[in-house]
This record gives sequence, structure tokens and C-alpha cells, in this order.
Amino acid sequence: MTPTGAVRTFGAEQIIVSKTDLQGRITYANDVFVEVSGYTEVELLGQPHSLIRHPDMPRAVFQALWDTVAAGREIFAYVDNLAADGAHYWVLAHVTPSFGPGGRITGYHSNRRCPEPAAIRAVSGLYAQLREAEQQHGTGRAAVEAGSALLRQVLADRGQTYDQFVWQVISEAQGAAA
Ligand SMILES: Cc1cc2nc3c(=O)[nH]c(=O)nc-3n(C[C@H](O)[C@H](O)[C@H](O)COP(=O)(O)O)c2cc1C
Repeated sequence: MTPTGAVRTFGAEQIIVSKTDLQGRITYANDVFVEVSGYTEVELLGQPHSLIRHPDMPRAVFQALWDTVAAGREIFAYVDNLAADGAHYWVLAHVTPSFGPGGRITGYHSNRRCPEPAAIRAVSGLYAQLREAEQQHGTGRAAVEAGSALLRQVLADRGQTYDQFVWQVISEAQGAAA
């Protein structure tokens, strides 16, 4: 799917929900996900979650997401997604592992809300920097490593973890909207 540049948003009261198996294949999609993504439930179920990946998203963000949830922790992340008709929609995602008997990870779960415009502006600059660093290394492992190294460096300069960075963006954007 080629991005058209059209922007989609969704209501402050709406939450996009999906669940995946351990490989990131979609096992559950709620009605809001179906509505906003433009795919039918049948088209979503069983597909890798990268179905809605936007080509502008830096790989380093997904690397951080997977490293965190596979280690059994939760993460908040800003993600730009691509709908079936080529429109794109930003989300603030809260991704968590689901645990089974014995504390084993059985799958993953994501709840997403529509971010404040100020938050999208704040994150877009960092994402553009990461993308640029990655693009100098093609699309393979070296690209992810270059993006991840730059993300670590930017966060170290700010004296923050990715989580602390996201929470600062959330609170500043809420302040801007108030
Ligand atoms: C619970 C869960 C939710 C995810 N949600 C998204 C999402 O909304 N958009 C997205 O592009 N990737 C999402 N991912 C990450 C994808 O699995 C994948 O890593 C990403 O799209 C990058 O794809 P690629 O490695 O094929 O480039 C999610 C992963 C999990 C475990």
C-alpha cells in the first residue's frame, strides 16, 4: 500500500485494540481497529502486525518495542500507521505482554489512543532523524542498529529512557492542548 498523505484521526473516546501471538500475528482486532484501519476483521486476523506498517516509521522504534515486550515489560510508543486506503493515522500505543501459567509470555496486547497534535509534532522530529540515520544503511540489520544507536544517544543526551521521553511528550502535549 502506497501512502497517499491523507491524515486520519479518531475520537478521544475511542481505543484501538489488538492482540497478537508471540510472532506478532494479529489474533484479535476490535471494531475501532477495523474502522480506523479500513481492513475487515477477516483481512486482519492471522496477518503480521506489520500489515499496517508505515514506511516512514523508523525501525529502531519497533526494535525498542519488541526488546521491551519480549523481556516481559510494557512500553508506550508513538506509532504512525498506514490504513488500507493509504491514509495514515498516528497512535499512542501501550503494548504489553500477556502472561500464562508459570509466568510464560503467551502473546501481546496493544491499546492505542489518538495522540495530541503537539505530541505528533514533538515525535516527528526525532523519527525523521532516526529514519535518516537508518536510510544510510539500507533496510537490513545495519539500518536497525544505526537507528537504535542514534536513539540511545539522543535519549542519553536528554538523560531519559524512551518511556520517560514519551511521558514528557504526553504531558507537554496535554499542557499545550489545555
Ligand atoms: C501487540 C503488538 C502491536 C503492534 N502494533 C503495531 C502497529 O500498530 N503498527 C506497526 O507498524 N507495527 C506494530 N507492531 C510491530 C510489528 O509487529 C512489526 O514489528 C513492525 O510493523 C515492523 O515490521 P517489520 O519488522 O516487518 O519492518 C506491533 C507488535 C505487537 C507485538
